[in-house]
Amino acid sequence: MADIVDLILHDHQWLRRQFYYLDDARSPTELAAVWEPLATRLDTHADAEETVFYPALLKKGDSGDPEDETEDAITDHNKIRDAVAAARRQTVGSEAWFEAVGEARTENGKHLDEEEREALPDFVKSASLQLRHDLALEWLKFYHAHPAGRGVDESNKDAAAYIAENS
Ligand SMILES: [Fe+2]
Repeated sequence: MADIVDLILHDHQWLRRQFYYLDDARSPTELAAVWEPLATRLDTHADAEETVFYPALLKKGDSGDPEDETEDAITDHNKIRDAVAAARRQTVGSEAWFEAVGEARTENGKHLDEEEREALPDFVKSASLQLRHDLALEWLKFYHAHPAGRGVDESNKDAAAYIAENS
């Protein structure tokens, strides 16, 4: 069976690894080669979670506090989106670019740790294997529908309104 939790963790590993590859890049071209797919994936991953995962957590999570976990995630996703957008406005390799990318790295790192400590364990304890399978297919369909980030919603969300709409 497919598993939404496995797919999310796989993305998290890819995101972390790509940030480490930035440390190996030596020229603006190399930095762009690492950063641009990473920036796209950060936005795609956040939208995929907000479309597929968090609505299910809000409906099914019952071993933790799904509303609090979702509020944290939306707030973190907004900070990551802001940093990605700020980096996109700068020249790759400039001081301002490194600052924005550093912010994205810090916020993403904190977010992934928290998600893996709270939202995902709550979901694992609450959801059936069938639901994890069904959502995995929804996740794959989302990525297929947004190749290279095309059509991804990069807008920030109001956490309270999102929770009200998706509970
Ligand atoms: Fe997330």
